[in-house]
Amino acid sequence: MRAVARANANVALVKYWGKRDESLVLPQHGSISLTLDGLSTTVRVAFDPALGNDDIRMGGLPAGEKERGRVSAFLDLVRHRARTALRAAVDSESTVPLASGLASSAAAYAALALAASAAAGLSLDAEELSRLARQGSGSACRSIHGGFVEWQRGEAPDGSDSIAHQLLVPHAWEVCDVIALCGSGEKEVSSRDGMRRSVNTSIFYPAWLAAAEHDLTTMRLAIADRNFTALGLTAERNALRMHATALGADPPIRYWNAGTLAVMERVERLRATGISAYCTVDAGPHVHVLTPLETVPSVQAALADLPMVHGVLRCGQGGGATLIEAS
Ligand code: DP6
Repeated sequence: MRAVARANANVALVKYWGKRDESLVLPQHGSISLTLDGLSTTVRVAFDPALGNDDIRMGGLPAGEKERGRVSAFLDLVRHRARTALRAAVDSESTVPLASGLASSAAAYAALALAASAAAGLSLDAEELSRLARQGSGSACRSIHGGFVEWQRGEAPDGSDSIAHQLLVPHAWEVCDVIALCGSGEKEVSSRDGMRRSVNTSIFYPAWLAAAEHDLTTMRLAIADRNFTALGLTAERNALRMHATALGADPPIRYWNAGTLAVMERVERLRATGISAYCTVDAGPHVHVLTPLETVPSVQAALADLPMVHGVLRCGQGGGATLIEAS
């Protein structure tokens, strides 16, 4: 009836940007990510006959209305599967610095999928967990696994084949992520809303779809060949294309700020000095700088003294979602 699970955030190397089915969270195209260490969320779930409603908390404090609705709807999926009507107490704890605005729904829903299913007495394998986590937040299906991960688009209308699988175990190839924090607080347009508006209104959306397919092929090869330059070039190009697509929406969506551009320029200059580093940016202003393990200190030092960067996090590779306790 109770369980605790932890999962790590991931950074997308080929982005997920657009759904073909909003309620089942089915993507328009596949995506590839790297699971990170150091940015994790731990979720505890207890189904309790004494509860009349789900009690959803974050760091011990009651969650906001929107999040409560989203988590309860997710718990309904688990209840349906476990054939129970019991309400649950849910609390989550994150290692992501609070003020960073880096909140990761991927880590949260991957951990929630594992904790809630275990607490409900279900024993789901990685494929089933990935399918379940996806319905909480698309990118969460990738955080079920560690290392390099691909979420395949799938074809089935019920989403049964839209799941993630591991491409490389953690540390098989030491690519790291140095994150430059370029702003704080809630983002103005959530990724959910941003991708919906992009699908519905961006004049660039059809081109994005074609580019994503091409980038997936190139990224798979780069990972198979352990070709860092190909990985970096593809990730950077793919991120720029995703943001171009968002900028092409109506009204336009701009996730970057001046700090984002300052980091991009600094990384270009680092490359000119022979340091292999490439940028990728999710639906917010922060910049993830991908670099091999040996150049992490130089990249970190080069980003830390930029005036618009208010923090630098270094992440190695993380493992998949893990069950910490179940009773
Ligand atoms: C830009 O997984 O947060 O980070 O499925 O609506 O919950 P929902 O969206 P979410 O979107 C992530 C978007 C992204 C790219 C990526 O992680 O692939």
